[in-house]
Amino acid sequence: LIELFDGAVDPSAFRRLENLILFETIDSTNGLARGLIDHAEEEEVALSPCAITALTQTRGRGRRNRAWRSPRGGLYCTFLFAVADDWHLSHLPLSASLWVSEALGEAFGLSTAVKWPNDVLCRGKKVAGILAEARTRGQERHAAIGIGINVFGRPEDYGSGATTVEAEHAARPSISRLFGALCRRVDAFLAAPEPASLVERWTVRAVHKPGDPLTLRLDGEGDSKRLSGKFAGLNPDGFLRLETAEGETVICAGEVEKW
Ligand code: BTN
Repeated sequence: LIELFDGAVDPSAFRRLENLILFETIDSTNGLARGLIDHAEEEEVALSPCAITALTQTRGRGRRNRAWRSPRGGLYCTFLFAVADDWHLSHLPLSASLWVSEALGEAFGLSTAVKWPNDVLCRGKKVAGILAEARTRGQERHAAIGIGINVFGRPEDYGSGATTVEAEHAARPSISRLFGALCRRVDAFLAAPEPASLVERWTVRAVHKPGDPLTLRLDGEGDSKRLSGKFAGLNPDGFLRLETAEGETVICAGEVEKW
């Protein structure tokens, strides 16, 4: 058993994941992952799949360059691996939100829903966020999947609209148990990354149901571009189909602001 956080993690969670790096404090686990990718590319060395974790982050990053509050009591980790040619990068955010949602279920029996593209909600409040970053250089592709889960403490310590596992769950949660459940899923994904059922599995856990009214803020369009319509499911790439007054449009990157 590997002693980590507040207990032991079963080493069976580490078959494909070869390295595990644990920090007391770091600026950002995704920042370190980027540095490791830079180094591997410059030196032309292979990166083995690894997990970087920290008890707290001083400069945690969220999507859209927002800060991610990272007090002690949360789980902050980044999974770093090379991406094979036949994997769809656009599937990574969906896969990652399923790892988190399923791990919360396994570790604590906590019922959560996924919100496109990759938030994890409990009773409508955010319990986990995911920053999925990918880098392509020549033939090399790497992914750094950063995951922040609000485990212990008061929801307000993590920001507005947040909740914590502790606030939602009567029994005392264990970060080690959660991390083990998460690593087992990442490990299984690295062995068999492209299940045909990914979009269907995501849809079963989605907070959005077909026909639900949504408002999206579109990425890469400045701060003001918003689009409203009705949720029409995901396409096979994992992009969101929105039924608008002008017909169906496919959203590749953005954030659901109202749902
Ligand atoms: C979001 O919802 O905006 C994504 C939040 C992602 C936060 C995690 S915490 C671990 C990893 N390191 C970071 O700096 N960010 C991600």
